[in-house]
Amino acid sequence: MSKELERAQQTLNEKRAQVNRRYKPVCHPSVPAGWLNDPNGFSYFQGKVHLFYQYHPYDSVWGPMHWGHWVSEDLVNWQEMPVAMAPDTNADIGGCFSGSALIENDEMVLIYTGLSPKDETDRHFQQQCMAVCRDGVHVEKYEHNPIIDRFALPEGADPYDFRDPKIQKKDGSYRVVTASKGEKHGQLLAFRSDDLKNWKLSGVYADQFGGFMAECPEVFEVGGKTAVIVCVMGADQTKYPCRQPVVYMVGDDVNDQLISSGDPIVLDWGLDFYAPQVTRLPDGRQIMIGWALSWGHVSPAHTLGHGWAGTMTLPREMTLDANGQLCQKPVEEWKKLRRDEVCLENVKVGEEIILSELAGDKREMVLDVDMTAADSFTLKLLKTGDEAFVVSYDKATGLLRTDRGQCGYPCTENFVPEEKPYGETVVPLVDGHLKLHVFVDVSIVELFADEGRKVFTSIVFPKGEDAGVSLSAQGEACAAITSWKLA
Ligand code: FRU
Repeated sequence: MSKELERAQQTLNEKRAQVNRRYKPVCHPSVPAGWLNDPNGFSYFQGKVHLFYQYHPYDSVWGPMHWGHWVSEDLVNWQEMPVAMAPDTNADIGGCFSGSALIENDEMVLIYTGLSPKDETDRHFQQQCMAVCRDGVHVEKYEHNPIIDRFALPEGADPYDFRDPKIQKKDGSYRVVTASKGEKHGQLLAFRSDDLKNWKLSGVYADQFGGFMAECPEVFEVGGKTAVIVCVMGADQTKYPCRQPVVYMVGDDVNDQLISSGDPIVLDWGLDFYAPQVTRLPDGRQIMIGWALSWGHVSPAHTLGHGWAGTMTLPREMTLDANGQLCQKPVEEWKKLRRDEVCLENVKVGEEIILSELAGDKREMVLDVDMTAADSFTLKLLKTGDEAFVVSYDKATGLLRTDRGQCGYPCTENFVPEEKPYGETVVPLVDGHLKLHVFVDVSIVELFADEGRKVFTSIVFPKGEDAGVSLSAQGEACAAITSWKLA
């Protein structure tokens, strides 16, 4: 083990004990101590789901990137594994950035971005590296990294923005799709190899996502099509819920090119969702997990000095509907967490009513709201006095919104109020009904609507501890609610 890796593990062991757990989610995997961003190497290997992540052990802010590691047998309980990688070789001395896994010959092959030593412009080149995990614990880096260096880039591509390789086996050889900053806009590049060590540029895989860079590409098969997810930097702000939206396109993967038409579609309308990865389980399900923060937001867990920052979303099963849109559904396994079912039928909603039987900051809720006689509907979560996380629906515009503006600590530097503390999008009613599925886990709220076509992920740090729930409506709504504590 390198001294850098040893030091990272020792630091984690020391810092874990100092973490203030007030806002730590109970059901979602969150960083044990320090900082976490993107999921990495999400895969199924030797009977377990492996989830690595971008990790900085020394502080609860981003820093030189390591890889942290969890494993799970049920997508519910995550076991912490030793720190998997540290920046400790010449090829990745500036950081081990995001990457993905391929299981081949009973080995887990990890392809990731290594940051080279700084050049004369004080910047790191980004190049693709390989590592192998044979026992599900230890990761061994390939001695001849990088395997795809900057000289493999096409003309005009920026060697300082070339990262996040997605590896797949396809049509008899290996393919990597990476993010790359092109001369005019972001692009995804495809590379091919027969032996995982020698790679050649195949061409531009996709460039229809907008922005100056489309990072963290995820490419997966769903419903007989290919779905590609990217995170857009420099996106047109007016169209999206946050600075760097996560969008997808569905199409056909032909000769290392994504053939698709139409505009990219937003994958999550909340304030905090980024860099998701998808892996196929042996039962065929495609499961996605994302990082629950967006660049530009600051986790109050850091600002408050709690010693940690970073949570993953709950795992979601991905399917494709008849119109070519992705649908996200919380994995079945999460039903295991349900305790103390409460069923409320025929709840007449007008003036605000407090549902004390639903109070709690670890909770799942399924709501079916008849909007026939109502113009709007509001659900407040994590409520103490005037403070609450607000979910609201306006029938005239069809807009569903989640808003954390009135709830606790702003997710900004020094707690400056957020300019836009909400995300919203149109959700159609079904026979006059609004159907919502909500998960609250201490400092994260996930809302699924429109059968999973519209999802909102946001972190939230309430100051109060009542975690009350209330409903109100203009006109009269009628709600049926089933809810569980999560434990
Ligand atoms: C996305 C990202 C990736 C990069 C990693 C670095 O969140 O910027 O593009 O590989 O984070 O931590």
